[in-house]
Amino acid sequence: MAKAPKVLILNGPNLNMLGSRQPEVYGRETLSDIEESCRRHGKSKGLAVTFRQSNSEGELVGWIQDARDSHNAIVINPAAYTHTSVAIMDALLAAELPLIEVHLSNIHRREAFRHHSYVSKVADAVICGLGSQGYLMALDAMAQRLNAEQET
Ligand code: DQA
Repeated sequence: MAKAPKVLILNGPNLNMLGSRQPEVYGRETLSDIEESCRRHGKSKGLAVTFRQSNSEGELVGWIQDARDSHNAIVINPAAYTHTSVAIMDALLAAELPLIEVHLSNIHRREAFRHHSYVSKVADAVICGLGSQGYLMALDAMAQRLNAEQET
């Protein structure tokens, strides 16, 4: 049997506070709950999921750089770095991997400063406003793409 494609799921600053952080915006699930759902869902779709969170821009950049040789795709919720980080955008561009950007909230319905995303400039797709379901939908899309690539 072919090896399960590896998907790196990255989470940016303050997402470790999910559950207690503005639950009216981000819901009551914790990041561990989301990690568990992603692992389970990924496995059911034949994907091996690596799930990480950092409050540090540099650490996220390092993980993206490493992913180029260790993973087959990236799903990222860059959180506040979405709106500020050219460094994360450049790292994602250099990784040359299938990329989906996810946000729990609909960033376009919120403050104007959240409407712009550096990451969207380099992402294949963006999912926002569906809460944690967005991560699972991103995994569905990656499974379709990566499993199709394996068959060819
Ligand atoms: C977020 C949206 C960002 O604007 C915000 O800074 C976050 C979370 C989301 O998942 O909805 O921290 O990425």
